[in-house]
Amino acid sequence: MEVLGIDFGGTGIKAAPINTLTGELLAERQRFDTPQPSTPEAVAATINQLAKHYQWKGKIGVGFPSVVQNGMVHSAANIDKTWIGIKVDELLSARTGCDVYTVNDADAAGVAELHHGAGKDNKGIVMLLTIGTGIGTAFFVNGELFPNTELGHLQFKGETVEKYASDAVRKKLDLTWKKWGMRLDEVLHYYEQLFYPDLFIIGGGTSKRLDKIQEFITIKTPMVPAQLQNNAGLIGAAMFASKK
Ligand code: BGC
Repeated sequence: MEVLGIDFGGTGIKAAPINTLTGELLAERQRFDTPQPSTPEAVAATINQLAKHYQWKGKIGVGFPSVVQNGMVHSAANIDKTWIGIKVDELLSARTGCDVYTVNDADAAGVAELHHGAGKDNKGIVMLLTIGTGIGTAFFVNGELFPNTELGHLQFKGETVEKYASDAVRKKLDLTWKKWGMRLDEVLHYYEQLFYPDLFIIGGGTSKRLDKIQEFITIKTPMVPAQLQNNAGLIGAAMFASKK
């Protein structure tokens, strides 16, 4: 099936038409800056612009940086707070005239990686972390997703994991690769002790930079970059919508 996949991030909103069986992009990816403030109306307008860019009439899947349950937004850590309580599928379907289905962005990236990327056919416990403005998590047991885990919001060292080790924190505090790599290592040790996963997959913009921090990572669990890199979110969002 062909579905338009969209990934709503803290700095950019990206889209591409996806073949949901193969995970392939069917046209070049398009990106617009995330409107600031990222209110429902402003973001819906940007998503509509992306749909119009591809003259899209079919289904759309959107990866969303918050808890999304049955088409409703329940949290807003890095987006405008007015999103909370919004029936996002209804809003975006009305705005675009297409059938829109929304899913947490990390869960979307995880689904894509488990089917077409670094976690392909993995039957164990797999944790995907998407590291960007925030830290999102997707948790799989035997290929099954446990949705909306939000482990980036676990308390850690007097703050949250996300406020301690996200890419936005690296930039804000101007951390060296070593300092940031060591922070991420501490976080991974914490997750390792809690869940004993078989594999960590690192997604988001950070997936391209793992070589810079690999030497500071001392966990026993294997850790690999997302093979679909920054496209994992939009591919997985399209796959999610294709099943609706
Ligand atoms: C949000 C998650 C999201 C992650 C990555 C966090 O702040 O709570 O829902 O997956 O950022 O975007």
